[in-house]
Amino acid sequence: MSLLLLPVFLLSLLSLHAPPPATATATAIAAATGVHGYGGDKQVLTLNKFKQATQLQTNTPNCFPQRSKKSATILELYHRDYCSRPRSDWNQRFLEHLLSDQIRVRSLQSRIKIAFSKGSDQELSQAQIPITSGAKLQTLNYITTIRLGGRNVTLIVDTGSDITWVQCQPCGSCYNQQEPLFNPSESPSYKPIFCKSTTCQNLEYATGKSGICGFNSTNCNYYVSYGDGSYTQGDLASDDLVIGTVPIKGFVFGCGRVNSGLFGGASGLMGLGRSLLSLVSQTTDVFGGIFSYCLPSATDSGSGSLILGNGTSDYKNFSPISYTNMLSNPMMPTFYFLNLTGISIGGVSLQDPSFGKKELLIDSGTVITRLPPSIYDVFKSEFLNQFSGFPKAPAFSILDTCFNLSGYKEVEIPTIKMHFTNDVKFTIDVSGILYFAKSDASQVCLALAGLSDEEEIGIIGNYQQKNTRVVYNTKELTLGFAKETCSSD
Ligand SMILES: *[C@@H]1O[C@H](CO)[C@@H](O)[C@H](O)[C@H]1NC(C)=O
Ligand SMILES: *[C@@H]1O[C@H](CO)[C@@H](O)[C@H](O)[C@H]1NC(C)=O
Ligand SMILES: *[C@@H]1O[C@H](CO)[C@@H](O)[C@H](O)[C@H]1NC(C)=O
Ligand SMILES: *[C@@H]1O[C@H](CO)[C@@H](O)[C@H](O)[C@H]1NC(C)=O
Ligand SMILES: *[C@@H]1O[C@H](CO)[C@@H](O)[C@H](O)[C@H]1NC(C)=O
Repeated sequence: MSLLLLPVFLLSLLSLHAPPPATATATAIAAATGVHGYGGDKQVLTLNKFKQATQLQTNTPNCFPQRSKKSATILELYHRDYCSRPRSDWNQRFLEHLLSDQIRVRSLQSRIKIAFSKGSDQELSQAQIPITSGAKLQTLNYITTIRLGGRNVTLIVDTGSDITWVQCQPCGSCYNQQEPLFNPSESPSYKPIFCKSTTCQNLEYATGKSGICGFNSTNCNYYVSYGDGSYTQGDLASDDLVIGTVPIKGFVFGCGRVNSGLFGGASGLMGLGRSLLSLVSQTTDVFGGIFSYCLPSATDSGSGSLILGNGTSDYKNFSPISYTNMLSNPMMPTFYFLNLTGISIGGVSLQDPSFGKKELLIDSGTVITRLPPSIYDVFKSEFLNQFSGFPKAPAFSILDTCFNLSGYKEVEIPTIKMHFTNDVKFTIDVSGILYFAKSDASQVCLALAGLSDEEEIGIIGNYQQKNTRVVYNTKELTLGFAKETCSSD
């Protein structure tokens, strides 16, 4: 997710007091449809399928089905663009999305710098919320629907931020959304959170922002702003939530009265981060602090799933789930960190002294994976060594390694694995390695990027998490990966 301030769609409590850079979460649009070859050193990517897949369906009958089982609730996840407007100009859209992704990453990085520079600052460590049930969030690119106060709300799923919010009536300033605005007066179970309440004090404490009660001494106000000018502001409130068929009483969320930014047509955002007010934390009693998702490719018309609770028996994984340690950084309590111990490409292990020494975070709200520059350099060089002989194409936005594959029907792509503590090897799906900047395949780019500074923290973006079951266990502090085909069509 995002470290810091989440972008547009990502709100983060942390971002409340961070000087705001903005982050925008971008949506990964292009996705390659390919053969899910596994186990070999190479995977075959069928390029022709891509064109067909990009002829998007414009009618999307039932965007957000969900179902519940005994121990788990399953929400279907769609790529954010799937249920919104039809795409007209792919190239332009890609560019927009990559740019907003870059804004998000910059914001995260600046947030990290702030956290580190504050060091052992007493106030900041006080601002931490108990690590117990890690919480977390993410997404900007994927959406799901839940019932809040008796009505359906479609939200961006973000593991990089904490507060869940919806645009609310009466609205001072709202962006256009697909569903009608949430109207608290139509929900008998809606309750404002008062300033004097512990919940409001927690918010104030957590964000270090005073004056939360400033302009209305009765209600608790929240305010999140982003460096790019995106923000949400409104009343902290509670209402009943139904996730799948599981009811959650008195869920605390933001009733946004003034909202602006790149939230697409979603009604708001679901925060699955690790700190106190995230959905994960608030529902720990119900779901045990465990959730997982499988993100479908943008070109799949079917859905992936977000599972809250122990959904082991509902996963469709066809490789065993392997768990690594989920690391925490008290100065950045929202994020999920991992220990990257190595990377292999086509069976060749990359060598870099920083493996095992640097944490990186996993975020559903960042699109393109970012690696520290030294690692990215060896990565790119080995990839080019193995993926050779293809005509080059110009760089595309932050993607600097591009090819003209328009003369090919299919290509073999070296298998890329990221290694983590406990000998966990996460294999990036073949659809997550190349980014189709042009749908005729004349500009297809390696879908990873380098950070600008060795001190910045790497991020595993959602483009690389497709067709993978990613399991977050905030109780046991483990994070699991397994190969799964998220969408059956
Ligand atoms: C709300 O969403 C559920 C699940 O997708 C759907 O069955 C139901 O018809 C929706 N209700 C309304 C009023 O749209
Ligand atoms: C504070 O909010 C309450 C409830 O929305 C409203 O009735 C009241 O007029 C507001 N007070 C001020 C000073 O805005
Ligand atoms: C989840 O459920 C499976 C099967 O019922 C069980 O083996 C496993 O221990 C459970 N995991 C957790 C973390 O509760
Ligand atoms: C990360 O992995 C390396 C190599 O296994 C190990 O030496 C290091 O202690 C690990 N760091 C953390 C924070 O677990
Ligand atoms: C890409 O390659 C094809 C043939 O392989 C060629 O016809 C076309 O002009 C190239 N496109 C660009 C933009 O270079």
